[in-house]
Amino acid sequence: MRRAPALTSPDRTAIQSSMPALIRKPSDRSSLLHPTAVNSILAEVRRLKIEGRDIVSLMRGEPDLPTPPHIVEAGIRALGDGRTTYPDNRGEPALREAIAAKLVRANALRYDAESEILVTTGATLGIYSALTAVLNDGDEVMLPDPIYDAYQSPVRLAGGRARPVRARLEGNRFCLNREALESAWTPSCKVLLLNTPWNPVGTVLREEELTGIADFLEQRNLLLISDEIYEAITYEPHRHVSPATLSEAIRERCILVNSLSKTYAMTGWRVGYCAAAKHLIQAMLLVLQQSSRGPALFVQDAAATALTGPQDCVARMRDEYARRRAQVLKQLKGTPGVGVLPPEGGFFAMLDVRDLRLPSEELRRRLLRDQGVAVVHGAAYGEGGEGTLRISFASGGENLTRGLNRLREGFEEVAA
Ligand SMILES: Cc1ncc(COP(=O)(O)O)c(C=O)c1O
Repeated sequence: MRRAPALTSPDRTAIQSSMPALIRKPSDRSSLLHPTAVNSILAEVRRLKIEGRDIVSLMRGEPDLPTPPHIVEAGIRALGDGRTTYPDNRGEPALREAIAAKLVRANALRYDAESEILVTTGATLGIYSALTAVLNDGDEVMLPDPIYDAYQSPVRLAGGRARPVRARLEGNRFCLNREALESAWTPSCKVLLLNTPWNPVGTVLREEELTGIADFLEQRNLLLISDEIYEAITYEPHRHVSPATLSEAIRERCILVNSLSKTYAMTGWRVGYCAAAKHLIQAMLLVLQQSSRGPALFVQDAAATALTGPQDCVARMRDEYARRRAQVLKQLKGTPGVGVLPPEGGFFAMLDVRDLRLPSEELRRRLLRDQGVAVVHGAAYGEGGEGTLRISFASGGENLTRGLNRLREGFEEVAA
């Protein structure tokens, strides 16, 4: 049989351009998805670096601290022991037991390791499987505004719509009050998604605030997805309260999402977990089985070691973040037109730049172009974030010092 002659490049272009639009066009569903602000800004940073510019990034939520050695060793040991086969899709029993014990120890919450816990590929897959398991087309998800900008796309992918709940800047702190929840609510709302400690604003929701939110959830018959990924990084006198501890009724309507990414500096290991009532976990497992089917076995073994082993590494990291937080407050103190909102938790600080009278995105671009420092504009996290910039102190040392110096100079220039 004669082989068809190879196609030349112009042939290919001709074929592609004559393809029916149906084949060339991505799905409507995928066109609902957006990259996060950090990913878009990273593309700008890369372009500047190619031009030879020296850029300091105060942008990403990526700890520069290494994963503690005993956790790394557990992963290596597991690899050596041949723990490389398919994992149990719910998560390995030993890891689920370790998670259940951690939830009792750290959160005063009891969940059955067999039926009420699901191991996920980072909190990202926990959020994705929770949303996909509970949303029907047209359901609305109440999202505090501003908030972490990677929630909207999975809401859309699951057929839902985001319903922003405007947070109020009271004094030095973003708050979520009952009035805002009531005025955002519609009969289509099915879920409230909370993140405490709250990225990007740094608020740690207090027990009395959560009690008000819990009343609202019950009154409006809503589910709660509670992303608690920054729970271990809080600053005195603030303490994380897990909403499910408020009452049995809230525990029943709550899907707790967490991960080892931030607590143990394990972002790249991709391991997290969810805890919820059995019927919810069962539905989430089915969703998860259509995608990642859970982290690798040796990663799960390392995660079990992280949760059951000594916890002083967590305290040391928290102390380090506390030092960096103090550095941010000190180095930016007295900067014209800029107020720092002291974070209560997490490793981001919001800068109140309303007095500089520039849209936050324009200010961010100027700082990147003129000073070579990358931060995220508050408006990327929702309209409620306008007038602020988010800086990260997940990376410390020289990077943080240089970044803060550049910011200060940039602000002084804009103010002048
Ligand atoms: C609030 C919040 N939730 C979830 C994630 C993603 O977590 P993971 O690395 O466990 O997927 C992040 C990452 O920055 C985050 O800030």
